[in-house]
Amino acid sequence: MRNERVAISVEGLEKCFASPDGKTTTQVFGDLWFDVRQGEFICLIGHSGCGKTTLLNILAGLEAATSGTIIVEDREIDGPSLDRAVIFQGHALLPWLSALNNIEFAVRSRWPEKSRAALTEHCQRYIDLVHLSGSEQKKPAQLSGGMKQRVGIARALAIEPRILLMDEPFSALDALTRGSLQDELLSIISQTHQTSFMITHDIDEAILLADRIVLMTNGPQARVCEIVENTLPRDRHRGNMHKHPNYAPMRNHLLEFLVNRSRSFEAELADGAYDPKSPPQVRPVSEAEPQASYA
Ligand SMILES: Nc1ncnc2c1ncn2[C@@H]1O[C@H](COP(=O)(O)OP(=O)(O)OP(=O)(O)O)[C@@H](O)[C@H]1O
Ligand SMILES: [Mg+2]
Repeated sequence: MRNERVAISVEGLEKCFASPDGKTTTQVFGDLWFDVRQGEFICLIGHSGCGKTTLLNILAGLEAATSGTIIVEDREIDGPSLDRAVIFQGHALLPWLSALNNIEFAVRSRWPEKSRAALTEHCQRYIDLVHLSGSEQKKPAQLSGGMKQRVGIARALAIEPRILLMDEPFSALDALTRGSLQDELLSIISQTHQTSFMITHDIDEAILLADRIVLMTNGPQARVCEIVENTLPRDRHRGNMHKHPNYAPMRNHLLEFLVNRSRSFEAELADGAYDPKSPPQVRPVSEAEPQASYA
């Protein structure tokens, strides 16, 4: 349930890294400006190395920006918060704890006063939500890749954060597992209305999940190229989205960006119309049937 209140405002963000000998610095990205509205699902697409994980780490408060700020719900962030949970690309579970204990560990830090019984009941709810009932006592080494990722998702959701930050959470999984986890995530978020920010390489994943898609150009000195509004109605799912007339224009626009424009963006910049504070907003639609619904 997206509304117009801004949940995250990224304002002039820049990150530089020093070279190993410390003599030079490289700007990974700079002059990033965009916002995420409350309850909105944003996907960020960009090529490897353009700074996506670095940006997500800064959003999570795990890393500092070189310049610029991030405002979350009217306050500048100055470190990690239990209101911003991260689902990492690797599952990042504690290997010596069972699935349930991994989740309990996180939940305990959020609500230290919870009784033992209430804690277990709370965590079991999230285990059930990601369909892991029966595997509570298994250690990460005894779980498949998809199951480990489910524990990571349950752990992030169980602390009931206002904002979910996800770094390619499904990229290491096979297509079938990825699809079912995408469906689960969609159904959970449609109930919780959490503000979500996800990095992905997968165009179809972005079209399925995102309300808007932020396109980041290649690094170094990456920029936000443009912000694409998803023109497929919200009731889309994996079985119907390719039937919508706007699907091909959406997909082609994103593909064209990844294949060509992410590299040639500097030429677009040269025409002078680009304003980093207000990157172009685009709405790819089918010219033939702009109002059509799913077939
Ligand atoms: N701690 C660091 N010190 C120096 N350079 C770094 C550090 N972390 C990242 N970089 C560099 O910053 C750039 C962006 O890295 P980042 O991991 O954010 O990319 P990414 O867009 O997430 O890539 P991928 O899609 O492959 O995950 C890379 O060139 C990387 O080498
Ligand atoms: Mg990355």
